[in-house]
Amino acid sequence: MLSENVFPIITIDDLDVKNKRVLVRLDINSPLDFRTKKIVNTERILRSLPTLKKLIRLQAKIVIIAHQGDTLDYQNFIALDQHAKILERLLNQKVTYIDEICGEKAIEIIENLKSGEILLLGNLRYLTEEASTFENYVDLKAEEMLDTLLIRKLVPHFDYYVNDAFSTAHRNAPSMVAFQELLPTAAGELYSEEYKNLSSLQTIRTRPSIFILGGSKISDAFGMMNEVLSKRNVDKILTTGVVGMVFIAASGFALGEKYDEFLLSKGLVKYIDDARQLLKNYSDIISIPIDVAYENNLGQRVEIGLGQLEKVNEMYFDIGSQTINLYTGIIRNSETIFMNGPAGVYEKELFEEGTRMIDKAVVESKAFSVIGGGDTINSASKYINLEMISYV
Ligand code: 3PG
Repeated sequence: MLSENVFPIITIDDLDVKNKRVLVRLDINSPLDFRTKKIVNTERILRSLPTLKKLIRLQAKIVIIAHQGDTLDYQNFIALDQHAKILERLLNQKVTYIDEICGEKAIEIIENLKSGEILLLGNLRYLTEEASTFENYVDLKAEEMLDTLLIRKLVPHFDYYVNDAFSTAHRNAPSMVAFQELLPTAAGELYSEEYKNLSSLQTIRTRPSIFILGGSKISDAFGMMNEVLSKRNVDKILTTGVVGMVFIAASGFALGEKYDEFLLSKGLVKYIDDARQLLKNYSDIISIPIDVAYENNLGQRVEIGLGQLEKVNEMYFDIGSQTINLYTGIIRNSETIFMNGPAGVYEKELFEEGTRMIDKAVVESKAFSVIGGGDTINSASKYINLEMISYV
């Protein structure tokens, strides 16, 4: 069994990393321009610098593992060469990149690394054991994780493992939970900071407390909902994005063939039943969009009510103005806000209204606010001053 102690209180200061090989798990999964595939926001890379700078100063041999996108999140699924270039620029030192993770070539470079040097390995999601969203995915058991290619190949070449990927801590993947069983482990600088800050959220009693859950990472949204609903520390959950669409379907409205096909292709249909169950028990807490937006043949934004979805049969990419009014009213009267996932496809001007207005309302509310997730932070940085958010 993997140990219960999932948060290693030990930090890098407790390790003797000089001249030692240190494997560092980062979360530098960054928002991309989906046409050019270029990184458009380097926030997560910037936040990883304190750990890397400390390890460089301490003369460790640094090997970074990280992911970008996922097998079904194919729009964001790219190699990490751009990340290496950005790291190189920010650190002002060479960062070697190899587009493989644990093959012979990678092992050779790892073995020959000198103190203070940095190597970034290929996208972890090339490995099935690391990919979290392919269809029919089955969670690996603890023992199976220890026997994966990633763990078997890399562990013998390292002295320490440092986890600095707090924002991926919800993933049951070997890179997140198995190395710590076999190597002396420490939390990185960002991991420690995020852990301390987010722990305070669990004790916040300032009500009303609301969760705004959108985007397309449905399993994450359901995980969060189940957690806060069972602990009864939420007064309202405002659903937006694809999460909202799943709840619209669960509440009995037909979405139309086009949207049904999209949910099917993403393996998301199964969540409609889960949403139905949640609505049965918590209909007073969970709010569902009352109108949505699509693009017509003339390239214009059109908003419609839920009764028309099936007939119009379009892809719906944003919440409509009635929902925006309803939600922003609730947000402005809240005392604690947690937000994850944009309200719509904000990358397209036509569909940025929902995300923009919700971000503004969060700032105007004066509530204690926490926002998380790469796209959420990227969109918020377009519309509001991130310093107005209590914790990003
Ligand atoms: C995130 O952006 O939420 C983290 O990087 C985790 O990514 P994932 O949802 O693809 O596991």
